[in-house]
Amino acid sequence: MKYIVTKSYEDSSRYIANLFEKVISEKNDALLGLATGSSPEGLYKDLVDDYKAGKVDFSNVSTINLDEYIGLGRMHEQSFGYYMDQHLFSHVNIKNENIHLIDGQGNPEDEIRKYDEYLENHPIDILILGIGGNGHVGFNEPADSFIKGTHVVNLTEDTIKANSRFFNNISEVPKRSITMGMYGIVTAKKVVLIASGKAKANAISKLISSERIDPHLPCSILHLCSDSEVVVDETLDESIRQ
Ligand code: GLP
Repeated sequence: MKYIVTKSYEDSSRYIANLFEKVISEKNDALLGLATGSSPEGLYKDLVDDYKAGKVDFSNVSTINLDEYIGLGRMHEQSFGYYMDQHLFSHVNIKNENIHLIDGQGNPEDEIRKYDEYLENHPIDILILGIGGNGHVGFNEPADSFIKGTHVVNLTEDTIKANSRFFNNISEVPKRSITMGMYGIVTAKKVVLIASGKAKANAISKLISSERIDPHLPCSILHLCSDSEVVVDETLDESIRQ
């Protein structure tokens, strides 16, 4: 696992956008694994800017997202499908049939089967991950064991509280979600985790200080990935060292 420190969040986003574009230029039908939340917003902005400048072509690219809230459809403003439409899909030439999202209003069992069948036959070429303050990746929350496949998650109080900033009221935050499990993450050919802000310092500090793979720190699965990078900015790196 490589640990990369950049000057700023913008530089981290640019560095990762270049990694994504390199993968797409080498394999025009690459499968991109995508995350939501504030952390990857800069990456998506750079990819959109580069698409508009003619530097990257999404016409054969496919995508698969990590997770979705149960109960929220793609038209709901807080769903991850809506987020992806706003930040990336509606701005680039990706084909709708190449986009793989969990339907939060679908039957969870059907959504899980659909995702696992797809992932078994299509390893992700490059996957962007954010990280929760408690070290979660996707919605794989700290637990006594890792879960291999796509599964339903009861969100922790910490995560509900952290994500309530996007909702009018904490009571509106869904309590359950569906997330890709560890199989999709460890079989990805390249995994890049972006973190910024003091709230992530504790989890990143634990991640880089030990190679122990611990389900109570879900991001520690990155030690098992064949090619993984953790990208942080100077401010976060300094707060870890204090
Ligand atoms: C959510 C998502 C994660 C994301 C995390 C951090 O819980 N399921 O994929 O990494 O939030 O979000 P942010 O980047 O906004 O801090």
